[in-house]
Amino acid sequence: MPDDPDGPSERPSERSHSFPEQRILVLHNADFGESSDGDPTYEARADVVNQAHDVARALVTHGHFVDVIGVDRDDLPELLERLRDDLPDLVFNLVGSLAQVEQNSVVATALLEAFGVPFTGPGTLSIASCCNKQRTKQILHSEGISTPRWSVVDAQFRSRVADLAAVAGVGYPAIVKLLADDGAQGISHRSVVFDDDGLARQLRAMREQFPGRKLLVEEYIDGRELNVSLLGDRLLPMMEIDLSALPKGLPRIVTYDWKWTKSADDYKRASASTLAQGLSPALVERIQSVARQSFAALGVCDYGRIDLRLASDGTPYVLEVNPNCDLSDRAAISLAAQAAGIAYDEMIEEIAESARDRFVGLAPAKRSPYASESGQ
Ligand SMILES: Nc1ncnc2c1ncn2[C@@H]1O[C@H](COP(=O)(O)OP(=O)(O)O)[C@@H](O)[C@H]1O
Ligand SMILES: [Mg+2]
Repeated sequence: MPDDPDGPSERPSERSHSFPEQRILVLHNADFGESSDGDPTYEARADVVNQAHDVARALVTHGHFVDVIGVDRDDLPELLERLRDDLPDLVFNLVGSLAQVEQNSVVATALLEAFGVPFTGPGTLSIASCCNKQRTKQILHSEGISTPRWSVVDAQFRSRVADLAAVAGVGYPAIVKLLADDGAQGISHRSVVFDDDGLARQLRAMREQFPGRKLLVEEYIDGRELNVSLLGDRLLPMMEIDLSALPKGLPRIVTYDWKWTKSADDYKRASASTLAQGLSPALVERIQSVARQSFAALGVCDYGRIDLRLASDGTPYVLEVNPNCDLSDRAAISLAAQAAGIAYDEMIEEIAESARDRFVGLAPAKRSPYASESGQ
């Protein structure tokens, strides 16, 4: 758990009046090696270091004292000791996984909860619900929010008959994903399948590449890809990922390569999220309402992002809810904030302030942030 030698630790003079200087610990996962050799999901996990630097820089700009620490599972005793001996005013929680398993990030939130230290983002219950896409979908479904039909498939190899029986209700086309990982891990153009043979092939490939991980087979929604971010008590302008650069014949999806593999064709085709244009005011309102409901149902607070696909009949389908979404200065939420006139540093400050307020009870109104109206 080395303190980041490059991390900012100085404090410049500028200060916000409402949120006086704080001792803030930026905590992130460090469950990746020196290089991507032999680790198919290295980039998705290692990117958190860039986020931590961006966040720390922003907090320093606002006059806070900032430490940046990366932890993996075996560093937990040290973290515990550190919290016991020197509790910060606030933890900016960027722990997205431990020991390369996203669900283990609840160990970090549980620890922070046990210490009663204020931290950004939601607590253990919400993180656990969002880490597991089936749990997320069950909660959304129970709230009447549209999410694609789905089935969960065992991690262990099964007979073709058993696999096909397990996903019979989903139909084709379908997409095969990991049940509990993000960052488009395991997603390639082969993930979208059109018949039993394609499905059986992709299940086998995923089981080989990600042993022991349960899989989610989901109805494939062909349509625009939108995302809506939450900042403090309001929704940010809706953003879109333009997938039109993908050649005809390839499914229009965000693949792992699109996000992370610099040498891949998909990466070269990728462009940053842009403001979603050309949607009717009624549809914008409908999607925002879905976003508010989704954040509330999953208990997301301070910040977060939902990913949606807009079906041809106009139904917005929620794919997932990200309570600890990417916070780098080029992330979708940062671009959405920028579109709303909120600079990156201000956005990070607002997230920290929102978290602090929840804990010290300075702004009780912010405890149910999704009820208020906000537009784009
Ligand atoms: N049901 C679906 N229909 C259409 N595209 C999908 C579907 N599920 C996932 N995708 C595509 O795969 C990408 C990654 O899937 P997502 O569920 O958001 O997982 P992750 O947690 O890896 O971001 C999405 O951004 C989208 O492009
Ligand atoms: Mg996603």
